Amino acid sequence: MTSSDSKASGDKQEKPASRRKRTVPVFRNSKRRNGDEPLVMVTAYDAPSARVATESDVDMILVGDSVAMVVLGYDDTLQVTVDDIAYHVAAVARAKPTALIVGDMPWMSFHVSTTETVHNAATLVRAGAGAVKLEGGANRVPAIEAIIAAEIPVMAHIGLTPQSTNMMGGFKIQGRQATAVHQMIEDAKALEEVGCFALVVEGVPDVVGRMVTDAVSIPTIGIGGGADTDGQVLVYHDLIGLENRFKPRFVRRYGTGFDDQVAAVSAYAADVRSGAFPTAEETYQAKPELLEALGLTVAGANSSPPDEAGSNQTEATGLYGSQPAGGAESPGQGGA
Ligand code: KIV
Repeated sequence: MTSSDSKASGDKQEKPASRRKRTVPVFRNSKRRNGDEPLVMVTAYDAPSARVATESDVDMILVGDSVAMVVLGYDDTLQVTVDDIAYHVAAVARAKPTALIVGDMPWMSFHVSTTETVHNAATLVRAGAGAVKLEGGANRVPAIEAIIAAEIPVMAHIGLTPQSTNMMGGFKIQGRQATAVHQMIEDAKALEEVGCFALVVEGVPDVVGRMVTDAVSIPTIGIGGGADTDGQVLVYHDLIGLENRFKPRFVRRYGTGFDDQVAAVSAYAADVRSGAFPTAEETYQAKPELLEALGLTVAGANSSPPDEAGSNQTEATGLYGSQPAGGAESPGQGGA
């Protein structure tokens, strides 16, 4: 059948399963022990990184409170608020990713009354999240119960929970003692029992990641939790090598983002300084009538040839990649 046959008969082009919008029910029972593929989660905090995540076909985007450290320059995650996370969730959502958007509930957004907790979770949903994540174990069951009662899916987060940095004495690997491991497994079971659809397990020895994964029938998503969890998550800036100051053991850099960007910006700076940027190619040319009216029709006033319509100024500018073709002639910042 040709594509026109297909149009004529009203057939819909099926998207490959992996390119459809991911939703919570798809993930709830996804376990490697059942033969399911490992789940892929990555953080993203803005529309371009969400577009990259979509092109890369990831399953879930976490708009993590790690934004505090990798984007906003803080030393820990305690500084961001619900409004900050909502702002970044909304930016990610505008890119319409196929991945499930998980909004991270920041510190002090669920350590408050259940009414306020649900209100805060709802703020992230209204910004575009399809689920929320929060740190903590059995102690957070009442908060989670209230959020789920409001029909908001919850992903939990145990092990190294960065919001507890002051209690833990820093970002320290957890589950080093048998009692702590048993407690973590009990926490995981309580979180499954209350209805969490997935569980992040961060910063624990691999055997602990495996034991927690074996103990529950919801998927575990590891970050520094070994190779046996049901999925993995990495922070975007770590993964692409944009964060290049510190590399925890669990990070693998798949790119040289920082070096690539320094090279690009340095090349731009050198071109500006040498006069190699901009050239006529990157310059709007005035129409001959305007040159004439301005008394500038002298040779060399307009060094590049106009297009067939007598001007090469009428093309859509496509500024910042977001303006549809056929838009206004505005050159954007600074006016014409
Ligand atoms: O905020 C975040 O990015 C996270 C991941 C590290 C799991 O919580």
